[in-house]
Amino acid sequence: MDKFNIAIDGPAGAGKSTIARLVANTLGFVYVDTGAMYRAVTWNVLRSGIRPDQEAEVISVTERMDIRLAPGEEGQMVFVDGSDVTTEIRSAEVTGNVSRIAQIAEVRRILTDKQKRLAADKGVVMDGRDIGSHVLPDAELKVFLTASVRIRAERRFKEIQDQRSDVTLEQLEQEIATRDQMDEQRETSPLIQAADAVLLDTTEMSIPQVVEHILGLCRTKVGGGK
Ligand code: DC
Repeated sequence: MDKFNIAIDGPAGAGKSTIARLVANTLGFVYVDTGAMYRAVTWNVLRSGIRPDQEAEVISVTERMDIRLAPGEEGQMVFVDGSDVTTEIRSAEVTGNVSRIAQIAEVRRILTDKQKRLAADKGVVMDGRDIGSHVLPDAELKVFLTASVRIRAERRFKEIQDQRSDVTLEQLEQEIATRDQMDEQRETSPLIQAADAVLLDTTEMSIPQVVEHILGLCRTKVGGGK
């Protein structure tokens, strides 16, 4: 099979975006980071002076905004109404509010529709929380990536040291545990492993090992890939 879809789900800091991007590059597929879409909405809401609990206003902003994803040198670039917000959507303020925005059912419906359209022509590696279970239930390969909270906090710590030098490893561990809990307990499309997803615990694995494992699954389970 030449073109197929891969859904990669899992909790914060499991390495989804790095791995999804590398798998997509190797296969010549398009990478779609759905977390970046929820972050873009959150950034736009906060910028507009709207609080996450003002649901009607949040929905109206989500309906009106244009979100574009494009491949960049250092990962996926994100544009809102034509402006580059790639860096802004990773701020502590956005990170601290995004789970609340992602709980709003209508926001999820709008973004899910966009995500389905992006994957309609196949050849997409999409990462998120509900891709295999909800957005692309027919994806040819579904992977659920996980790792211990401690190792996920350590990875994030290394990743963001330049931007947030004030944050401690313990704070990050707490933040990740809280976000996991909110993502797992929300009513609409919670973070869940799809019944037909392959579980991959990356606590003891390097990035190249995980990528190689997924490429192997493409060959054995889908009969495609390199
Ligand atoms: O992967 P990330 O940390 O950039 O995701 C940001 C937030 O968006 C995260 O708290 C959960 C939410 N999210 C979601 O609810 N559904 C998705 N498909 C992707 C992300």
